[in-house]
Amino acid sequence: MKTYAMRTLAILSLLALAPVSVHAAGGHGLDLEPMEVRLQDTRSLQNGAKIFVNYCLSCHSAKYQRYNRMAEDLQIPADLVEQEMLVGDAKIGDPMTTTMPKDKAAEWFGVAPPDLTLVARLRGADWLYNYFKGFYVDETTVSGWNNTVFPNVAMPHVLAEWQGRQRAVFGQDDHGNPVFERFEQETEGAMDAHEFDHAMQDLTNYLVYMGEPARLKRVRYGMWVMLFLFAFGALAYLLKKEYWRDVDVSH
Ligand code: HEC
Repeated sequence: MKTYAMRTLAILSLLALAPVSVHAAGGHGLDLEPMEVRLQDTRSLQNGAKIFVNYCLSCHSAKYQRYNRMAEDLQIPADLVEQEMLVGDAKIGDPMTTTMPKDKAAEWFGVAPPDLTLVARLRGADWLYNYFKGFYVDETTVSGWNNTVFPNVAMPHVLAEWQGRQRAVFGQDDHGNPVFERFEQETEGAMDAHEFDHAMQDLTNYLVYMGEPARLKRVRYGMWVMLFLFAFGALAYLLKKEYWRDVDVSH
């Protein structure tokens, strides 16, 4: 009976530890490559914020996020934000708006670039990560780009300089629908595939943080709680040993 209970307990605790895997799919029935979100990695978040401000705010806004909140949460010095990160004539207490007029943007792209504050909650990290890696050359579209995760997206590949140009090779399923098979690199970018993956993980990390800034605090508290439990556990163990040292349990 005892071993049965213990085994059940062991299985239950293993189950509790197992990550919940969600099977998410992109365009063309694509399987998404999973990405590990690491909100405890402040340097990754800082790099993601830098990419976001430099390459995305020109078209997109993140109007529910303020620069100073980002600076505080990600431990970026306020003067650095003021010198390097503010877009247009924004002040550090302002929300992250874009300088691009919405009606013009809609005219240029056919659809206005959406606000990105909450996009990670809508799409999920895996989707975003694969989207950023999924741009490929397509002469038939207006922008000259297409995307495996978001077919016929109106957004051009703004990070092509880093990734280089890639083409997508499609096969066909039983019904004659295109099925993505692989990418073929056409020109090299400033980054190799590994560096680009890392940069896109940082960018995705940042977007996940931005969608739910309070989660960052929970992760940080969580680490302290784990540390406390560990230290307390060790102390309790030592205490127990101390108390029982003189007790003879052999009979
Ligand atoms: C040149 C303008 C432009 C820039 C720069 C740009 N985007 Fe976009 N983006 C767009 C447009 C336009 C769309 C809408 C696409 C559509 O609906 O077809 C879009 C769509 C998106 C979407 C999909 C939103 C959704 O859920 O429908 C995401 C995510 C996104 N952009 C992220 C980014 C990130 C991150 C950057 C910076 C690396 C960036 N964009 C830079 C124009 C831009």
